Amino acid sequence: MNLIKPTRLLLLGAPGSGKGTISKRLLDNFKQLKSIASGDVLRSQISQKTSIGLKAESYLKSGSLVPDSIMINLITNQLQNQNLLHSNSNWLLDGFPRTFNQAKELNHVLDENQSNLNLVIELNVDQNIILKRIESRYVHLPSGRIYNLDYNPPKVPFKDDITGEPLTKREDDTAEVFSKRLIKYNEEIQPMRQYFQKLGIWHEVSGNTSDIIYPKVEKLVISDI
Ligand code: AP5
Ligand code: MG
Repeated sequence: MNLIKPTRLLLLGAPGSGKGTISKRLLDNFKQLKSIASGDVLRSQISQKTSIGLKAESYLKSGSLVPDSIMINLITNQLQNQNLLHSNSNWLLDGFPRTFNQAKELNHVLDENQSNLNLVIELNVDQNIILKRIESRYVHLPSGRIYNLDYNPPKVPFKDDITGEPLTKREDDTAEVFSKRLIKYNEEIQPMRQYFQKLGIWHEVSGNTSDIIYPKVEKLVISDI
């Protein structure tokens, strides 16, 4: 499908709500969209042992948020380097901004470059369901591809479909760290929600499976254009 007008989308949602899964479907269906997933960017910096990666590692392991100053520079640099800061750009952000401060700072940068967000979608999935999903999530770290032993299993058990390389568990997918991430999300989301509601671009999509959620997300993307 083609986007007729520039679409700049932020996907919000608790850890495990399916942001990465929905992003992939959007990218498959709308070829003009580019995506930046803050968690994937951080995991790549960590595996390359860059200075940002070294600073960020302990935050991810413990389920805390990486400081705003690091995140704002990291993601705005990504937007800049991928030439996405202009009025005709089409992109989606997964995982950034996730604090009120990050949202304000990002908006400032986007405003200066006539490339404001025009759609924010919060994925609302029952948090008991999320916990079960996380237990069976496996990932291919180099590409960010996401699998689930029940819902979206790899063709060969524990191997990536494309490269055949081994799948791994994310270090922050233990029950203890996961519950910390969930608590943090619930603390941060309310001011962000209010901020984007005031801007008139916030929408909520509910449902416990992607087959219910994805068509609603797609409808919003199309109706926004
Ligand atoms: P990040 O990588 O962004 O993790 P997250 O937000 O906690 O979200 P997840 O990636 O865990 O879940 P998801 O919503 O993408 O769900 P998925 O599609 O995989 O961040 C990690 C860490 O980085 C943070 O804790 C923090 O330390 C740091 N960080 C990142 N951004 C930051 C920022 N802006 N500021 C500060 N720190 C930051 O789906 C989950 C599972 O469910 C999968 O197994 C999937 O296959 C399965 N699934 C999906 N849909 C369905 C379905 N319909 N039915 C059944 N299973 C399903
Ligand atoms: Mg994700």
